[in-house]
Amino acid sequence: MKIPLSSPDITESEIAAVTAVLRTSRLSLGPQMEEFERAFADYVGVPHAIAVSSGTAGLHLCIRALGLGEGDEIIVPSFTFIAAANAIRYERAQPVFVDIDEESLNMSPTSIERAITLRTRAILVVHTFGRPAEMAAIMEIALRHQLLVIEDACEAIGATCEGRKAGSFGDAAVFGFYPNKQITTGEGGMVVTRRPELAKRIRALRNQGRYDSDDWLQHSEVGYNYRLSEINCALGLAQLSRIEDILQQREKVARQYQQSLSDIRGLILPATDIPGIRISWFVYVVRLDASFTEADRDSIVALLTQAAIGCGRYFAPIHMQPSYAAWRNSALPVTEAEACRTLALPFFNRITEDQIAQVCETLRTALLHLENK
Ligand SMILES: Cc1ncc(COP(=O)(O)O)c(C=O)c1O
Repeated sequence: MKIPLSSPDITESEIAAVTAVLRTSRLSLGPQMEEFERAFADYVGVPHAIAVSSGTAGLHLCIRALGLGEGDEIIVPSFTFIAAANAIRYERAQPVFVDIDEESLNMSPTSIERAITLRTRAILVVHTFGRPAEMAAIMEIALRHQLLVIEDACEAIGATCEGRKAGSFGDAAVFGFYPNKQITTGEGGMVVTRRPELAKRIRALRNQGRYDSDDWLQHSEVGYNYRLSEINCALGLAQLSRIEDILQQREKVARQYQQSLSDIRGLILPATDIPGIRISWFVYVVRLDASFTEADRDSIVALLTQAAIGCGRYFAPIHMQPSYAAWRNSALPVTEAEACRTLALPFFNRITEDQIAQVCETLRTALLHLENK
């Protein structure tokens, strides 16, 4: 790809931090992990953070450690990455997909409330594309119905809602550090929580079911190897130290796109200024308006790809995936209508103004081409 969809931003000092770890004898469960966890917890504003091998692993540990399983229903959006629903199914709990708000693309509190049954135990809230969900309303619903709340903040590090960071509202929250994320550890994730007993259990489950009181070959319960190595943690710690610069740079890129695309007819752009909210820009996703079809969107994807410009169909709804055939009939009209007209454009810290201009021009031409058909 001439202009990739995403690209990690790794500095020389971050490479040096990783190399320094490789010169030590401690490659797992060491000081880098402890420091990364401490710094991350402080950043989100919660007491506990547990580094894990991926966002998916973190979601799985939350579901398991909260005791969710067979017979339990967990409310989750279908318009997101499949890991959120898979983590529920790992524990044989039942994902119940609810629809999204047309504007924010986040789960709507009204749809959540409507989906609650006697079996509902939890809400898995996703802060889609780094825009925080309506947490005040969602927490109020959860309190009223005595439901647990897990925040999937994999796309939303640093996002805030009424002055509080995404990830600081629920019983637990999960962040992801895959290379397309705002900060990366290669692969990796972080679970955060205010609940000390939950933190202790997640920490043990991450490490083969060993509690602090267990020795290395004693396992109090069946756990997993979901540890994150010192090498990954060193990278994460160094990236986290410049998170504010990263978020500002990404916001600048989003605003440049906004400016360049605002006069194109038929495009719906993501909102950049929302009272009470700071978006942590994960991706820049535009939508074609209702006059376009899924085939139109796909032909634009083909044209951009032909021009060596990376783009993505974010997201193909989970309930339409072959592995979710049993959920295919979920009634999710907004999800289905929006998902077939979304288009993620190249978005990364070091994208240049020229590259943005090139993406916008190619998109403009592609849309004109469609109009003239
Ligand atoms: C919303 C959401 N949840 C979960 C994940 C899974 O994270 P990971 O790829 O680190 O397992 C991702 C991203 O990849 C995501 O975007």
